[in-house]
Formats: sequence, C-alpha cells, structure tokens
Amino acid sequence: MLSPKLIASPQKLSELANAYGTPLYVYDSTLLRERCNKLKKAFDGLPVSWLYAIKANDNPHVLKIVREQGFGFDTVSFEEVLLSLKVGQQPGQIFYTENNMTDEEMLAAVQAGVILNIGSFSRLEQFAKLPQTEECSIRVNPQIGDGHHAKVDTGNRDSKFGIRLDLIPEAVKMASDHGVKITGIHIHIGSGIQRPQNLTQAMKVLLDIGRELPDLKRINFGGGFPIPYREDEIPFSIEEFAEAAKPILLEELERRNGDLVYHFEPGRWIVAPTGLLLTRVNTVKDQGRITFLGTDTGFNHLLRPALYESYHAVVNVTRAEEESTDEYSIAGNICETGDILGEDRKLPKTESGDILALCDAGAYGMTMASNYNRRSLPSEVLIDDDGSVRLIRERESAEAIVSRFLKDSFYSDNS
Ligand code: LLP
Repeated sequence: MLSPKLIASPQKLSELANAYGTPLYVYDSTLLRERCNKLKKAFDGLPVSWLYAIKANDNPHVLKIVREQGFGFDTVSFEEVLLSLKVGQQPGQIFYTENNMTDEEMLAAVQAGVILNIGSFSRLEQFAKLPQTEECSIRVNPQIGDGHHAKVDTGNRDSKFGIRLDLIPEAVKMASDHGVKITGIHIHIGSGIQRPQNLTQAMKVLLDIGRELPDLKRINFGGGFPIPYREDEIPFSIEEFAEAAKPILLEELERRNGDLVYHFEPGRWIVAPTGLLLTRVNTVKDQGRITFLGTDTGFNHLLRPALYESYHAVVNVTRAEEESTDEYSIAGNICETGDILGEDRKLPKTESGDILALCDAGAYGMTMASNYNRRSLPSEVLIDDDGSVRLIRERESAEAIVSRFLKDSFYSDNS
C-alpha cells in the first residue's frame, strides 16, 4: 500500500534523491497553493485577511508562492521582516509580533512601516514614547492555551507571551497618554491546537477586550491549526472550525457595522503536509532489542522529534510496494543518543542505500535546522505545477562549510 502522505510518487522521490543527493527537502507547490485557497474558501464572505507565519518555512520561493495567493506575512523578528520585504511583501501586509524586541529593532520596524504587535507593557511604553509612532496592535495573554506540546502552548497565563489580561486597560491608557492608538489586538494561543474549542473560547475573550477599545481596526486570532502527523489521526477540519468561528465573527462585525478586519496567521497548516525530507539509509544495525536504520540526516535537519517527541510518518520509498514486515528505529547521524527520528516503525525489510521519506516536514523542518556537528544544511527542491523540479537551495560541501566557518570566526593560519 502506498502512503497517502507522500507528495509525489515513490519513484519520483527516489529519482530526486538520486539526482540531488540526500538529505533533501522536497516541497510541492501545487499542494501549497491548494492549501492556501482552502483556507480562503473556508472563510469566504468574511473580512478575513490571511497571514502566513513565515517561521514555519521561509524559503523565499515558498514565500513568493504564498504571497501570490494573497497572503500577508506574520513575522517575529526583524530579520523576518527584512526577508518579507525583500521577497516583495508590502509593509502594510507584514505583521510583526515582537518578543523582547530591542529598541533598535523597534525603530527599524517603525521605519519600515510594518504593523507592530506588542506583547509587553514595558515594550509598549518604549514604543509609545517614540516620536514617530501613532498606532499599533497589542498581543493579549488570554489565559487559555493549547498546543501539541507544553513547549508550544503560548496562551496559558504562565507563558511569557502577551500582556496580562488585567493590565490591558492600563496599557491602552498609557499608550493613549502618549498619543498612540491601539488599533489592533492579537492572540496566538499555541501551535498544533488539540481542542479547537480552546481557540474559539480565546477568540471570545479577545473580542470582549476589543469592545473596550474605540480605535480598533483589526483583530488577529493567531495561528495554531493542527495537521494529522499520524496515519490514524482524525484530521482537524478547517471547514468545521470555520462553521464554529463564523457566528462569533459575524456578531462582532454587526456590532461594528462591518468596520473591522480579522486575521488568522497559520504556519504549520499551510506548509507541513507540502514538504518531506528524503534521507538515505547507510547503516542497518541490530542492537539486540532494537534494529536501527542509520541515516544521513538527523535532528540538525529535523529537530521536532528530538525537541517535542513529535511523530513524522516514515516511508521507505525504495520499497513502497513491499509489505511492512520489520520493525525499526530511525537513527540520525548526530552524535547524541537522542537523535532518533522515529521509533518502532513498521517498514519493509530495509537495506543500506534505501531512501526514506520523513513526511509532513514542510513546517518547522528547514527553518529549525542547524549546522550542529558542523554539518551542512540539506538541499531543497520545489516541484512545480507541471511536475518540473527546481533546486531552491543547495547544500554546502564539507570544504565550503568549514572554510566559511573559519572565515566567519576570523581564523587564519597565523591566528
Ligand atoms: N503566530 C505566532 C505569533 C506564532 O508564534 C506562531 C508559531 C504562529 C503564528 C504559527 O503557528 P502555527 O500555525 O504554525 O502552529 N517549532 C514548533 C512550532 C512553534 C510555533 C511557534 N509559533 C513545532 O515544530 O511544532
């Protein structure tokens, strides 16, 4: 049986692995466009202006496709702001949610003309004191959190994010005393939301706060829509969520005579299923109780299993037609015991040289990759609508990465 999680035929994926080498991230632009359009369609007829959280996957070619679907960008660092501008995003379509922003970053963002979303009282004060500032959005901590792991639950009252609920009136007054209007409010309750009711509940909390704000133009409910990583998981339905959210959105819209824009800013839901990581098995090792498949990638390229114990489906694309008879753990090549990409996976009898696909890796794969163990990052390719393939990032050779590292460390033979 072929895995529904593969974005191209096993044969095509094997060909790509051979042509471009492994490890290799492969993205599917057709699916990417489809997913953007599915979101838009689910909220058709409502003034929802979609943003894409670029931290999920910021390859410029991916950004371009998403921008072309009419999406603005949610950014969380000045570097992301700059990248967004460089790929042609309009400043007014860039929402910059700060997190311990420095004064320099704040100034630069103000000068760039992006929408600032400020998540702490003290930062708001700094912002309000700047001479050129007139308005901004604020991030609220709604005291309702969710997420696929405690590390990505951002809305609970003990999380570092958002302005405390009871401080909001004071924050708005302080801003107003400095001549700054609060024109936007925002929540992001967490990533990979497990109970969508938590989001609709938090949306109501945010709307209640909004009622006290006379200058409000935009309300941003954040991202966090989950995707099914496991083969047997019931997928979150964006259509069902939209049905639950619509009455809430419509009621507020009526109260304000339609004078309001809503935002959602998902990352994972858009890109996760549109990408996978291909890796080649080079070692098959029976340790007695566990048989490991040793691969040429690791948590330096896909951190999620090591960091959150996340599950990514694994498919042996070399033997996609064969029955899964053996059990393996998929080991990375990083020198740490915790570098395991998948545990106890049923796969066809696998041999050195086989290509494995780590599925649903289009979000928080490459963006969280590092050069740990001084290894290079994977290459990335994009499959276009007509099936043609474009190299959109090339892995560095060992020689190149070490030379760059020495140069960046100001090291020379006579150092
Ligand atoms: N908006 C804000 C302010 C965020 O901080 C995030 C994600 C998003 C939107 C998009 O969330 P999404 O729709 O992708 O769930 N590295 C973790 C996920 C961390 C998400 C951080 N913030 C992972 O691999 O699961």
